[in-house]
Amino acid sequence: MILLTILFLSLNQIGVSSTDTGSGFPKDMNLYVTFPPILQHHESLALGHLRPLGWQRRAEAPIIEDSLNIDPERFYNLFVRGNRSVVIRGIVSPMDVLWTDTYLSKHYGHLNVTAAKRKQRLVDTLVMTPLKTFLQQYRQDDLYMNTIIPDEMKLETPFPSVINCGTIRSRLIEPILWISAGDTASLLQAHAQHTLHCVLDGRKDFIIYDLANHYPREFDLVKQANGDLFSRIDVDLVNAYKYKYLHEAPWYWTTLREGDCLFVPAYKFHQIRAHGRTLALTIDFAPTNIREEFLGTDCEKNPPVYVPLSQAPFLWRYEHAVRHLSKRTITSEDVRSYLLLLFGANEELHREIFRDFYLQVTDELDKKSVALPTGTDVWKQLNKDEPHEEFMTRDHLKNLSADSLQLLADILQKSARIHEHHKHEL
Ligand SMILES: *[C@@H]1O[C@H](CO)[C@@H](O)[C@H](O)[C@H]1NC(C)=O
Ligand SMILES: *[C@@H]1O[C@H](CO)[C@@H](O)[C@H](O)[C@H]1NC(C)=O
Ligand SMILES: *[C@@H]1O[C@H](CO)[C@@H](O)[C@H](O)[C@H]1NC(C)=O
Repeated sequence: MILLTILFLSLNQIGVSSTDTGSGFPKDMNLYVTFPPILQHHESLALGHLRPLGWQRRAEAPIIEDSLNIDPERFYNLFVRGNRSVVIRGIVSPMDVLWTDTYLSKHYGHLNVTAAKRKQRLVDTLVMTPLKTFLQQYRQDDLYMNTIIPDEMKLETPFPSVINCGTIRSRLIEPILWISAGDTASLLQAHAQHTLHCVLDGRKDFIIYDLANHYPREFDLVKQANGDLFSRIDVDLVNAYKYKYLHEAPWYWTTLREGDCLFVPAYKFHQIRAHGRTLALTIDFAPTNIREEFLGTDCEKNPPVYVPLSQAPFLWRYEHAVRHLSKRTITSEDVRSYLLLLFGANEELHREIFRDFYLQVTDELDKKSVALPTGTDVWKQLNKDEPHEEFMTRDHLKNLSADSLQLLADILQKSARIHEHHKHEL
């Protein structure tokens, strides 16, 4: 059974699941799959027609690997700034032995997580469900988990040392925990953020396209509000006539097993297939401007072998399966650095990206009918005196007075503390 997975985190789609009767057949948990595929030519058919993605052209080469002792500065300079994927094997502790279904259910089963149900092509429905219920269903049903990892689980989750200091540590966005069973395939996609993808149990195969173009038209792309891109190509049954471009697009591959991580730079198109029971942790961090040097005064020469994820300063944390800002006290300087993160590698911050951030932060306040200025109003106030309505520049943001940032700081703080107040105090 093939399950299409897609990172589609629209808050509006989260509902509370009822127990659901699925197909009832256990999924195929076979880990022995040939990858990259051996291509089969048929004279009368375009190569790879109605075959999975990857059958349309021979893989160029494996994605390069670096040593597990790679230091953060080298990682940043060669790969993050260099815009290159890299595999680092054995840098996180495998979780297959500790995090069995029984253990997870016993210790964390009461926590609400988000799971995605395959409803129709391209759009999956997110449901909020206790982890225990998910674990009872995922080996049979078309269901996989993708949740911002709950704080309660972070002590047992490894935080890779290669991103635990300097420039990268200060740009951490959020950690997502994925659990799936059987053969599942993601869409062909590219994220607006950099991602470190670590497999904690099972096996995942990756296809990474190496394209010069940000938005290849041939991929038939859909863009999400947060800047992520995904392709409408059916990755299980590719129409090789419609998507002829796949015969020309070079791709690289790797297979990750427990303990291995892959760095995928922002805007690299990739597709993932999981086999067996897989547990994976993906850590997103904001791209930097290419000119930005590595700052690493907090980097240790011999970092500890194990650091728990609870020590990582993420922008977002999880609470009842919804994103919340991690900080409780939010100053105008925090606002400036949040907005700088939203710039990513760009010289400009576009209004749409800001509005998406603002909607996420204020969603719950809004649901409680707390009176707030709209995202557009806040944007206008931040961006007044700028010649363009559509975007702001880095210099403009760096120059903004603390006073002009205070309004947004107040709103963000209200939102961060939403569960510590009664409604009339907000
Ligand atoms: C999970 O969500 C349900 C429904 O919203 C809620 O009643 C329950 O208290 C939540 N459980 C936890 C541990 O937050
Ligand atoms: C990195 O490479 C991708 C294509 O593989 C490209 O779209 C993107 O613009 C590049 N990023 C930078 C910062 O050069
Ligand atoms: C930023 O402030 C400096 C000094 O006040 C000024 O010279 C510069 O023009 C300002 N830049 C922008 C983009 O507002």
